[in-house]
Amino acid sequence: MGSVPTLELRDLRAGYSTKKGFVRAVDGVSFRLERGEFLGIAGESGCGKSTLAYAVMRLLRDNARIESGQVLFNGTDVAAMPEAGVNALRWTGMAMVFQSAMSALNPVLSVGEQLTDAVLAHRNATKAEAEAMAVEMLGLVDINADRLRGYPHQLSGGMKQRVMIAMALILKPDLLIMDEPTTALDVVVQRSIIEKIDELRRALGFSVVFITHDLSLLVEISDSLAIMYAGKICEYGRSRALFDEPLHPYTEGLMGSFPTLTGPVVRMGGIEGRAPDLLSPPPGCRFAPRCARAFEGCGREDPALRDIGGGRLCACRLREPGREGGRR
Ligand SMILES: Nc1ncnc2c1ncn2[C@@H]1O[C@H](COP(=O)(O)OP(=O)(O)OP(=O)(O)O)[C@@H](O)[C@H]1O
Ligand SMILES: [Mg+2]
Repeated sequence: MGSVPTLELRDLRAGYSTKKGFVRAVDGVSFRLERGEFLGIAGESGCGKSTLAYAVMRLLRDNARIESGQVLFNGTDVAAMPEAGVNALRWTGMAMVFQSAMSALNPVLSVGEQLTDAVLAHRNATKAEAEAMAVEMLGLVDINADRLRGYPHQLSGGMKQRVMIAMALILKPDLLIMDEPTTALDVVVQRSIIEKIDELRRALGFSVVFITHDLSLLVEISDSLAIMYAGKICEYGRSRALFDEPLHPYTEGLMGSFPTLTGPVVRMGGIEGRAPDLLSPPPGCRFAPRCARAFEGCGREDPALRDIGGGRLCACRLREPGREGGRR
């Protein structure tokens, strides 16, 4: 107890000002990420995953803002920091691999130049020292040092992704945020990338937030999972427990939406209907309009994310104490 987590969000709200009004893409999100922990965040397109990541990094677009709440990075609130302070933390303390990572490499700079530039921009190092760090980091992601002189177009998709990871990790951050880094890659390469991240976090000790819409990728690797729906976390728990016994009807639906990689092929039922418009979300539980198990009252009262024991949190009235699905 008592140790300061790498990242702790407290009731974070963030979103976008638009002509039609405010789109609250992150609506009261809280979680703790311990040192060295691997947290997966999963949910359908548009549920606010990237907005959450950008808010943590304080890299929000011009029309976006953090409305309220805290983003405690090693105990200090990034949301309340002056820009200069965040600037000093970004990449050195917390780093991110973006959703469009494959096209994020500069086509006219060699791989080595891009890696050494990242070092030289943030550290008082000589060119030779920066190059040595680049070689070391490439080695850690299994890329041969002779690729330093190569250009992005000479790399396969999986190798580009590894270079992006090397760039994110070269300054040895405490936190690595990966925003759907593998979706453009085939399943075998996706898997090798995520295994590499796992290996590196064990070797280097950083914490990981791995964002994906594909839960099956995370089952064996992430320590914990947060399931996001319409700007909120609807379920949170240790990965294994959450997979073995999903508690929220949305999680069940999400798990039915794809085949697992190693286990038996599961039902590909998916979830009927569409996620709500975050400009004017429905009253009550946001999932209720699509929920096969919704009952009277779900459309009125928004269920809180409640601790239901065993380190598990669930925002569903089915799990309230006294109900059949409640666990105590
Ligand atoms: N620049 C913007 N202006 C207005 N609304 C935006 C903007 N960017 C995102 N949104 C809205 O914010 C919500 C959350 O978007 P976000 O990109 O965070 O979702 P996501 O979970 O990352 O989705 P995906 O899986 O497709 O990457 C969506 O409803 C989206 O339409
Ligand atoms: Mg996204």
